[in-house]
Amino acid sequence: MKRYILLLAAFASIIMFASAQDRSAAMNTYVSNLMKKMTVDEKIGQLNLVTPGGAVTGAVVSKDVDEKIRRGAVGGLFGISGPDKIRRAQQIAVENSRLHIPLIFGMDVIHGYKTGFPVPLGISASWDLPMIEQSARIAATEATADGLCWTFSPMVDIARDPRWGRVAEGSGEDTYLGSKIAAAMVKGYQGTDLARDNTMLACVKHFALYGASEGGRDYNTVDMSRLRMFQEYLPPYKAAIDAGAASVMSSFNLIDGVPATGNRWLLTDLLRKQWGFKGLTVSDYTSVSEMINHGMGDLQAVSALSLHAGMDMDMVAEGFLNTLKKSLTEGKVTQSEIDQACRRVLEAKYKLGLFDDPYRYVNDARPSKDILTAANRQFARELAARSAVLLKNDNNILPLKRSGSIALIGPLANDHSNQLGTWAVSGDPSLSVTVMQGIQDLAGASIKINYAKGANITDDPELAKRVNVFGMRAEIDPRNADELIKEAVTTASGSDVVVAVLGEASEMTGEAASRTDIRIPGSQLKLLDALVATGKPVVLVLMNGRPLVLTGEPQKAGAILEAWFGGIESGHAIADLLFGDRNPSGKLSMTFPRSVGQIPIYYNHMNTGRPMQPENKFSTKYLDESNEPLYPFGYGLSYAHFNYGPVSLSSPSLNTNGIITATVTVTNDGAYSGEETVQMYIRDMVGSVSRPLLELKQFKKMSIPKGESKTVSFTISKSDLSFANAEGRSVLEPGDFKVFIGGNSRDAKGADFILK
Ligand code: NOJ
Repeated sequence: MKRYILLLAAFASIIMFASAQDRSAAMNTYVSNLMKKMTVDEKIGQLNLVTPGGAVTGAVVSKDVDEKIRRGAVGGLFGISGPDKIRRAQQIAVENSRLHIPLIFGMDVIHGYKTGFPVPLGISASWDLPMIEQSARIAATEATADGLCWTFSPMVDIARDPRWGRVAEGSGEDTYLGSKIAAAMVKGYQGTDLARDNTMLACVKHFALYGASEGGRDYNTVDMSRLRMFQEYLPPYKAAIDAGAASVMSSFNLIDGVPATGNRWLLTDLLRKQWGFKGLTVSDYTSVSEMINHGMGDLQAVSALSLHAGMDMDMVAEGFLNTLKKSLTEGKVTQSEIDQACRRVLEAKYKLGLFDDPYRYVNDARPSKDILTAANRQFARELAARSAVLLKNDNNILPLKRSGSIALIGPLANDHSNQLGTWAVSGDPSLSVTVMQGIQDLAGASIKINYAKGANITDDPELAKRVNVFGMRAEIDPRNADELIKEAVTTASGSDVVVAVLGEASEMTGEAASRTDIRIPGSQLKLLDALVATGKPVVLVLMNGRPLVLTGEPQKAGAILEAWFGGIESGHAIADLLFGDRNPSGKLSMTFPRSVGQIPIYYNHMNTGRPMQPENKFSTKYLDESNEPLYPFGYGLSYAHFNYGPVSLSSPSLNTNGIITATVTVTNDGAYSGEETVQMYIRDMVGSVSRPLLELKQFKKMSIPKGESKTVSFTISKSDLSFANAEGRSVLEPGDFKVFIGGNSRDAKGADFILK
């Protein structure tokens, strides 16, 4: 056995310095030679991805995992971590299975590993691509130190329905921003060489269109035109693949009536043939066997359908393991389809360097050296601060003074269990810094903090039960609601200013966490009302994982800081922002509606034939609600104040191969220095198909000292002006365009130009 590994090691090191082409030829030879030795059962075994627990997100749990590894019936494991556990499982594979093929080890490393960062929706509000890439780099370094080599991230599903709990896991509603973030994350996880011991396979998910689940209900149907797919929903997956994503996870939903997991158009024609993807595909958790419920046939039929569609690995369903051989005998799948899928699994292992050293990611010295370092925590603090969005700041209540007293109120003000957010499977909630601790650390010496819980996250025991599935998140206090509020009001009345930390329990967002009512739960709104009634200035700090409906009571607060589930350093970051050590700079990546009835609501919608006219009954509108969101995409205030000048163009027109420069001057006429994200949107006025009213095409982040101005220029060229047709090909149509530049999608100044 040892000789076998040594031979592999020698072989792998010889090719390390070879060119990419040589490397791919060497990989082919290696994998082909190995496959010659494999039986059909062993090949099918490589397609089986199981979890021995730790990441159960469905009704089925994998069984007899050790025994299956021994007989070569497992290609990879997910949901376990730590050098000991990984070493033990790997040993079974490389010492006890006939061909000693190593396993790959996956995990949902979604927003940081043990150093938890804000939920992805929060991170996306930073619009800070280098930091986002670095967040993935840190996550990969920590996760690989714990034995992992494959993360099921990034989740790049465009989402426009905040009822869907999984909006927390993605980058919001915009195609351009989502694509940029998708690429940045892939680069962060994978680095430049997957064979290094601190890089891991990224897995772009959920391919495809999962974010468009009808009614925002998880796992629900999707039905969408090809035009919308190619223009709005597919580009982020493509961007991740172009950035080199090594694997792709299929989604649960239908696409053109066929589940993504069995959809050959999606997994082969589009992904492999049109986009040139060469990596590994994996199903989502039991999405192979779930095709039975979709009405696609029995387990044998759906497994064959999936393999034929282009699926390589079956997560947990074991449909491949238990039926493909039979299907082969009956001529329902071909040997070459099985070989193809097996080859891709082995190639992924090869790229990771696992044939060179199956224990490459198992190093007992690494966890204490690489995980939860002071530098990583410092980074988490910075990222959390940059992800927060200041939604309201009447009369400049914020930043707070470092004197007097603060009433710190709310179920999330001193709560460790929620701030890591959903999909923080590897994080330890007890290590997270609460707002109470954060304020104490920053200003505790000069201010008095008066704390009261004030309310439960929810008073509804049924809802609490549902969100407490992974541990206590929404604890119902033995005191009744009135007592809690009374105590909070007394606390508020005796303090100078109220900081109310309210929001959702972490598991009110994420998988299987859709809500129809996306307000702050009623128990907390009642508390907020009572706090406002004291007449004290109220700062509302929100912890949540989706856009909330913040009309009504929340608007009575003088200031609103959207802090999301901000991760392990959340409390420090919030304190930094409250006291002005940092200036808020986040911008919403998803529209905040005024009411649930407006959903889906997003900025880059089409015009109708009857645009909204308040006085005209027969125009597009509601009888009982405005069309406008409460807070638009791209919105976010600062303690600074930015004033935009007019947009000037270098020329009134450009040719199809030309460029035009759009310039604005942004002046910080506020009392603080700050950072602004200057956003450039385009509108194509006339086209062969209707085009959206606005589309984000570029943005630039910049610091502007108080009292100073900065001139910002964007170079516009055909890549900003073209769009995809229903086949996914890029089309450029001459005609009239408008460019808009501003600090959000609503308040942007425009100029006209012509593409000749
Ligand atoms: C189901 C989720 O949909 C997916 O995002 C996740 O990666 C897998 N479970 C594995 O945990």
